[in-house]
Formats: sequence, C-alpha cells, structure tokens
Amino acid sequence: MLKINQIYHKDCLDFLSQVKDGSVDLAVIDPPYNMHKADWDTFTSEKSFFEFTFRWIDALIPKLKSNGSLYIFNTPYNSAFILSYLTAKGLFFQNWITWDKRDGLGGAKRKYSNGQETILFFTKDGNHIFNYDDIRLPYESIERIAHAKTKGILKAGKRWFPNPKGRLCGEVWHIASERHKNKINGKTPKMPHVTPKPLELVERIIKASSNEGDLVLDCFVGSGTTALAARKLRRDFICSDNNKHYVELATMKLENFDKNN
Ligand SMILES: C[S@@+](CC[C@H](N)C(=O)[O-])C[C@H]1O[C@@H](n2cnc3c(N)ncnc32)[C@H](O)[C@@H]1O
Repeated sequence: MLKINQIYHKDCLDFLSQVKDGSVDLAVIDPPYNMHKADWDTFTSEKSFFEFTFRWIDALIPKLKSNGSLYIFNTPYNSAFILSYLTAKGLFFQNWITWDKRDGLGGAKRKYSNGQETILFFTKDGNHIFNYDDIRLPYESIERIAHAKTKGILKAGKRWFPNPKGRLCGEVWHIASERHKNKINGKTPKMPHVTPKPLELVERIIKASSNEGDLVLDCFVGSGTTALAARKLRRDFICSDNNKHYVELATMKLENFDKNN
C-alpha cells in the first residue's frame, strides 16, 4: 500500500490499484477533457476518451469511504455523460457546479463563446460532511445587508439578520483561471503546467467536503494544486500524475510551502 502525503509518479489506474479500499474521504479529480490541450489531453476518438474516463471512475469508486465525496472537473458536454455514469453506479448527485473562469471567451462565431467548466459534486451516500459555514462568501447587496445588520429584514414573520461570516456559497463560482490571472497585455506567457486550477477553487472544495486530518486523493495532480491545498488546510493527501516533470513541479511547490510555513 502507498504512503500518505506523497505525490507518486504513476498512471492513474496503477496508482488507484494500490490505494486501500474505503480509505478516502474526498477525491478531487481534474482529469483529461479531450480538448487537445496537450498529448495527455488528446484521444483518438470520443469513444476512447469515455472508455478511459469510465475505467478510472470504476477504479476510484471503491477507494472512497462510505460517507466520502467526489468532485470531477470537465467540460459541460463531457460532464453530462459522466453524471449519467456516476448516477448509474449508484452515487448520489449533489451539485452541478458551474465554474465561471473569466477566460476562454474568444473565437466562437456560430455559437456562444465558452467561458465555463463544470465541477460535478457526488457523494457515496447521503451521510457526507458539508462544512457550509467554512465557505461562506461576502454578501453582494452591501446596502441592504448594512440595513439588515441593524434592523433585520422581515421574512415570513421572522426577523432575519445577515450571518457575520457571509452568505452561503452557491453553485456558480466566479473565480479567474490561472491563465487569465497571468495574462500580460492580453496574452498568457507559457506556464509550468498547461491547465493548473486556481488554489482558491480547490481550497473551497477541500474546506467544504473534508475535515482536518481527512484523506484527500487526486490521481491527476498536475502542478500539485490539490496536494498544496490539502497541506495548507491540514488534510492528508495521496496524489499521482503520470508525467514525471509535473510530479517534480508539484513536489517542489510543496517543499517551498513547507520551508516558508
Ligand atoms: C487537467 S490536468 C490536472 C491539473 C491540476 N489540477 C493542476 O491544478 O495543476 C490533468 C493531469 O493528468 C495527467 N494525466 C493524464 N493522463 C494520465 C494518466 N493516465 N494517469 C495519470 N495522470 C495522467 C496529466 O499529466 C495532467 O497533469
């Protein structure tokens, strides 16, 4: 069996076969999308892409604890098939999260421009944890909230006062992509990984769906975002990627974090 708090250089199926069944509290999975962004994201056909996707999903499900949670990133189109597959496997659908990534809005002339990705949130049963208080966001209607803080707002015969920690988090997430954040004069310089996820976004998932000391798994860890977020939030992690260069990059990021904290 594999050691925790390690990033392994392994293919996802080989890695998953070595993870103990029923040991994972939370899986954060950002797999290939078949968008041809790199060799690892290029499949010969849609059929072969979904065969690959369903194979790692089958290998992953037994690794989750009975009250574990699973988040899977993908395009909205691919997510529709993945949702249907997970539902057929008996997992519990919780949310279709739309990530408005403030990016990618170029080019389309015969349809609307793509600017979103999907994050499917499933759980193994209905007894999962969900720390909604830990991911509250600032209220948007500042004036109304300022008024409500002192006098409250009458709702169904009761006075409602805003929560000092902010509003509940909805299922549309407005978080700029790393590509967008790194743009200089509208152009993104070459980044160490082609498709890194924002740390803030992965931290939100980990805060909501795990507690300190829980085990977080990512079998497509890339530049190491999940491992870093887990370390920051004092969760254990077990991660892998089949690209040696990315494993070195992710390991270096963790070492730098440890040195400075
Ligand atoms: C979308 S990226 C993950 C990015 C990551 N979330 C981050 O923030 O940097 C997908 C990753 O899957 C890896 N990958 C692709 N096919 C794989 C396979 N069969 N087994 C393991 N890793 C694979 C790629 O090397 C790539 O780093």
